[in-house]
Amino acid sequence: MTNSDSAALEQTLSSFLGYREYALDTYWRPRFKRWQSLTEYQQQLIPWYADYLDQVHEAVICNAVFYEEMLSQAVIDWEIDKSPMQWSKPTITDMEKTVSIFSQLVREWSQECNHERLVLLKRLESFFNSTYPKSIRSNVNVLVPGAGLGRLVVDIVKLGFNTEGNELSYHMLLISRYLLNGGLQKNQLTIYPFIHIFGNHLNRESQLTGVNIPDVSVADELGGNNLMSMSAGSFVDIYGPNIHIKQSGYYSNTPEMRLQRGTNSKSKDVVITCFFIDTANNILDYIETIHNVLKPGGYWINFGPLLYHFENDVHEEQTCEFDSLTGAISNVRLEPVKGLELSLEDILLVSTTKFGFIIIDQEIRIESGYGKANSRSTSDSKYQCNYWIMRK
Ligand SMILES: C[S@@+](CC[C@H](N)C(=O)[O-])C[C@H]1O[C@@H](n2cnc3c(N)ncnc32)[C@H](O)[C@@H]1O
Repeated sequence: MTNSDSAALEQTLSSFLGYREYALDTYWRPRFKRWQSLTEYQQQLIPWYADYLDQVHEAVICNAVFYEEMLSQAVIDWEIDKSPMQWSKPTITDMEKTVSIFSQLVREWSQECNHERLVLLKRLESFFNSTYPKSIRSNVNVLVPGAGLGRLVVDIVKLGFNTEGNELSYHMLLISRYLLNGGLQKNQLTIYPFIHIFGNHLNRESQLTGVNIPDVSVADELGGNNLMSMSAGSFVDIYGPNIHIKQSGYYSNTPEMRLQRGTNSKSKDVVITCFFIDTANNILDYIETIHNVLKPGGYWINFGPLLYHFENDVHEEQTCEFDSLTGAISNVRLEPVKGLELSLEDILLVSTTKFGFIIIDQEIRIESGYGKANSRSTSDSKYQCNYWIMRK
């Protein structure tokens, strides 16, 4: 691990450690102060409110304990020898992630979102059953980039495939490692994912609902098989081609990475992108990478919307071109990270006419939720997802 990787990891650990105070400061204290600021007359109009605030406080503490237990395991797994006082300080974005990850936990690891996960899983099962006999599946290599908290990886391993997840975010990697390798029993933990949102609740219970995770015991489900692995880093950096892609924060020009990309080329039979392709700031890099990592005849299966993550991002990043043999760089410049939000039609056109993919199945506008499994909330967002299977 490089020094900057260690610093980023520590910064993420620090953010999880800081969740308790951050969440109390951001969500609980302002409301407690507001309650105290009411006149006695108004306090008596809502006599249950003090008790409700106590419960919000308690729920934050439960969430914090979940993170703190994960952290005590993580410092061992990741061999962190510095004391928490020496860890790099988290940014506000790091802290916000410690909050949003609770929705991701619900999406991937709760019974409540089973129906949501099945939208893709049922389609995958049907395709796999018609394509790969069970007897050969352990030799079929599947890659799941943007694997999040690892649930889809587990589901695919359970179907018998040799499956590698890939994930960029240390927030995701730390929690997924805990869920995948922590030996947790089914429904062992309760988290309170909805306490960070105060609007749109039908009643107080709706906000205070606890969700049990994980809905399966990974150890029992996988029975100790050796088919699951996870890579840490940017998808294009690890699996992309050594040509056509510019050096940037997502794609490096070190001899090690060039070698790793060379090794990964044409190594996978299936790439499954689930709620992933719109995380690209250059979707052509993603298509290049999918094409590069697939064996001839391999399949790209996609499910998700085109809600480009960088669409409103005002930042610029430094890029440059480099010689893939010597590593010599040229054309260093600053480029906007937004601005290449290809439509579905564009993506299909490029993939088929320029990369030679053949579409073998396609559905558009499949409605799917994403981790907001609170049936008692009055707001409910759904995504219009595109699904396809293409053959290289
Ligand atoms: C919207 S989430 C989807 C997670 C999971 N596939 C699911 O369906 O729940 C997108 C994930 O992609 C990860 N990600 C974003 N850019 C990435 C990159 N360049 N390489 C690898 N992972 C990336 C994010 O950290 C995040 O975990």
